[in-house]
Amino acid sequence: MPAVTFTVLKRDRATGARLGRLKTPHGTIETPIFMPVGTQATVKTMTPEEVAGVGAQIILANTYHLYLRPGADIIREAGGLHNFMHWEKPILTDSGGFQVFSLADLREISDAGVTFRSHLDGSTHFMGPAESMAVQEALGSDIAMAFDECVAYPASREEVEAGVERTSRWAEICLQVHRREDQAVFGIIQGGVIPELRRRSAREITALDFPGYGIGGLSVGEPKELMYSILEDLQGYLPENKPRYLMGVGSPDCLIEGVKRGVDMFDCVLPTRIARNGTVMTTYGKLVVRNAAYARDFRPLDPECDCYTCRHYSRAYIRHLLKVDEILGLRLTTIHNLYFLLKLMHRIRQAIASNDLEAFEADFYAKYNSGKI
Ligand code: GUN
Ligand code: ZN
Repeated sequence: MPAVTFTVLKRDRATGARLGRLKTPHGTIETPIFMPVGTQATVKTMTPEEVAGVGAQIILANTYHLYLRPGADIIREAGGLHNFMHWEKPILTDSGGFQVFSLADLREISDAGVTFRSHLDGSTHFMGPAESMAVQEALGSDIAMAFDECVAYPASREEVEAGVERTSRWAEICLQVHRREDQAVFGIIQGGVIPELRRRSAREITALDFPGYGIGGLSVGEPKELMYSILEDLQGYLPENKPRYLMGVGSPDCLIEGVKRGVDMFDCVLPTRIARNGTVMTTYGKLVVRNAAYARDFRPLDPECDCYTCRHYSRAYIRHLLKVDEILGLRLTTIHNLYFLLKLMHRIRQAIASNDLEAFEADFYAKYNSGKI
């Protein structure tokens, strides 16, 4: 039995959207889905019970961070990441192939892997495909991501091509060294915003027959329209019966546009990060609740939201908490933002089921872009 299996249950009639079911060792996920990010084995400010309570079906954790602290050995000794952090539902781990490039100091990349200095204490480390797989096997996530090279945007054609070649070679090594039967490995497609290189990467990575595919190297500073056109083009080059995961994407408009182009899974720090900066997503657009304008606003963050935060607290109170640096403020905005995005995904799934996605989308944008907060 493969560690994960995926079934497309239904396709939206008018768009490329798919309704699916992903079975993992720690439970079944309804797709399309958004995965909250728990970089350091915690979704910042929330207990696992609260994360499940806002509707999360699966969370993401980061190999790079957990390898540096507390280290793979300690998590293995704890009985794996699920036990260590007390989260019983599915976990996906990113390979470190992206965080090494965006966080580590003094990176040196070769065909073998990446030598880097820890952004924490400057110590030198090496991570390649085999090292990433070994750490992810120790973490015991349900889905491990292949070790890839995410090339920055903009980049020359030569740089993008070299990234595609390395990513393919490393993907092959990841499959060769991986042994855990209760863990799936997803390949990652790179290729920047050059359609021809995207297709080449898709061809080479899907030839390795992974149980699922990440689409990496997007949402790294390129215009959204460019990302959408790459996704549209890629649709024809990915197997229909495998899940497609758009990495690092999580704004409401990108989720909708991604789903319409056949994406089944997303993750992003956006909802949780902006929450801690005092920005929340609402039915009527973004709201910077930290602003003075809300000092005497006793309405909930989003009048149409029924999350724990919106049922009990006002904008004025939450603004006060944030202004005086009270931890509860961060918790309340995080709970709301995650609930908002997870509910959006739930409504998207319902809309696909009833062939209503385009109508849902029109209605969503009309409110979200209305500025009527
Ligand atoms: N997260 C966002 N983009 C990427 C990517 O290109 N590769 C990996 N491994 N993770 C990502
Ligand atoms: Zn709310």
